[in-house]
Amino acid sequence: MFRDKYCGEIKESDIGSVLKLSGWVLRRRDHGGLIFVDMRDRSGLVQVVFNPDVSAAAHAAAHELRSEFVITVSGEVRRRPEGTDNPNLSTGLVEIYATELTILNESSVLPFPMEEAADASEQLRLKYRYLDLRRPELQNNLIVRHKTTKSVRDYLDANGFIDIETPMLTKSTPEGARDYLVPSRLNPGYFFALPQSPQLFKQILMVSGLERYFQIVKCFRDEDLRADRQPEFTQVDLEMSFVDREDILSLIEGMVVKIFDDVMGIKVQTPFQRLSYKEAMERYGNDKPDLRFGLELVDVADIVKDSSFKVFLDAISSGGRVKAINAKGMAGISRKEIDMLTEDAKTFGAKGLAWIKVKSGFESPITKFFSEDCLARLAQRLDAQDGDMLLFVADSGKVVHDVLSRMRLDLGKKLNLIQSGFRFAWVLDFPLLQWDEEESRFAAMHHPFTSPKDEDAEKMMRISSEELASGSMSADLIKMLESFEAKAYDLVLNGYEVGGGSIRIFRKDLQKRMFDLLGISEEEAKSKFGFLLEAFEYGAPPHGGIALGLDRLVMLMVGSQSIRDVIAFPKTQKAFCPLSGAPSVVEPRQLRELHIKTDQPL
Ligand code: AMO
Ligand code: AMP
Repeated sequence: MFRDKYCGEIKESDIGSVLKLSGWVLRRRDHGGLIFVDMRDRSGLVQVVFNPDVSAAAHAAAHELRSEFVITVSGEVRRRPEGTDNPNLSTGLVEIYATELTILNESSVLPFPMEEAADASEQLRLKYRYLDLRRPELQNNLIVRHKTTKSVRDYLDANGFIDIETPMLTKSTPEGARDYLVPSRLNPGYFFALPQSPQLFKQILMVSGLERYFQIVKCFRDEDLRADRQPEFTQVDLEMSFVDREDILSLIEGMVVKIFDDVMGIKVQTPFQRLSYKEAMERYGNDKPDLRFGLELVDVADIVKDSSFKVFLDAISSGGRVKAINAKGMAGISRKEIDMLTEDAKTFGAKGLAWIKVKSGFESPITKFFSEDCLARLAQRLDAQDGDMLLFVADSGKVVHDVLSRMRLDLGKKLNLIQSGFRFAWVLDFPLLQWDEEESRFAAMHHPFTSPKDEDAEKMMRISSEELASGSMSADLIKMLESFEAKAYDLVLNGYEVGGGSIRIFRKDLQKRMFDLLGISEEEAKSKFGFLLEAFEYGAPPHGGIALGLDRLVMLMVGSQSIRDVIAFPKTQKAFCPLSGAPSVVEPRQLRELHIKTDQPL
């Protein structure tokens, strides 16, 4: 009725046949005698020619066509005349000589020309997302996403996993972000939380003996948004029983290999590189290093302690760090460019940026504080050659790593050091606990169900209950707790965290001790996670799992900068949907039914 073939699939072998096509008008060019229309459907474009000698009626009707009109065309496929081939188009050797044209629907004047849609403001593109999504680039992103989830399902099915849905209306979960709440009409004053992840339910499924669970699932977190964060996003979530860390890592490596092969024909090498959390922080300044280039952070405190540069000496004596990177070949930059780098460092949190240019000698306002020997040792430590520039930051370890890791990424781009390709790595041996300065207590680095390493679990169980109950922890205890490592792992790709998981605590006594360390009282644990703890009373198997951020993974696969490009209907930085206008005010009646009052004008 509507089509014999898709526009983008017409080939030289179709020459001579008469075909019917349906789709949209991308553009119309009126050359007096002839009218050319680029006609588009999901598969691509084909050129349609309206010639009055072939069909006067179709030619006359073609005058009415405007951008994004929906049409059906019948016509003969012909070889394009010599010299008019379009090598950029899959159908560039052929064109359709229209014998019939039906206008199925018209289109209003567009808010932005389709061919310039990519350059329209994002606000406008999201408001008219249905037009934005007509762009082949975005359609391709959604197709890659579809192929990825299909590949994941095939792989996990073949490995004995069962796809099980878990509730969306549930209780607050422990991933550490703010919850999205949903009021319960039938239970006035009570709220559901949308899941930050299916964490508790998937662990309960292990207690139930399902052994291998997976789900491609929406998660909801009310946090500050960035290019790689959305308030609702999708995880490839899984959990397995009777496994160790290695089982999960090799399962996921196999999955990644299959995805990249199925979707892009790319062979990913395994096993993935492994780094400890400590090594990642020391060498790259963060726990999701981009390993496609070097420019590593180098500790120079033991060398610069012999200088008389007060900035460095003060940092060291107050327990801080001094680290440097070698900006290869940058010794030629001007004072103004150095000032700009310094400003960057300051916006990242540094108090300043010290530098030394290596130019057959050392050039810097601070060289006077260093002996020749000191400078030579610095040059050697940083593998400095003539033409390089050394950049130093002195501060607390946290600030030094924050600043230099960000400068490293900026310089990597600026100096064109970043190689193409996909560099996966596992980051392992995370600390179990993280000291929360603001609340002056420990928080779980991953989540409170993450198992400590076996030796640390034993130490944890040996801590005396009196010391924990005393309310304030001794310095020794804090130091010991900070040294505990978790059976947790993150999957990192090109500088992004694309997955995270852990082997879980499955013994009730260890879980209780963990809550004690986190300052979570028995009542609080019971009211928040009581149902999981109770389940643990009835034969919980050892288990562990992981969740991959599907949006981030697909974003990197298609080479995009924002996860909004791989989500059909994303929200803005302010968690607003310009298309639907959500969130919005509701009827006063709805609020009354929910027993909710708001102090905002309705
Ligand atoms: P985690 O909190 O590390 O682990 O989340 C897993 C992965 O989900 C992605 N991700 C996000 N993507 C987009 N927008 C967000 N706001 C967002 N937040 C997280 C990241 C991340 O690596 N329940 C545990 C998993 C487990 O232990 O099995 C969990 O949710 O790529
Ligand atoms: P000042 O002693 O403030 O004149 O700084 C001398 C040089 O050291 C300048 O280039 C500053 O940008 C730099 N500087 C100041 N504070 C730091 C710091 N914490 N780490 C690294 N360099 C710094």
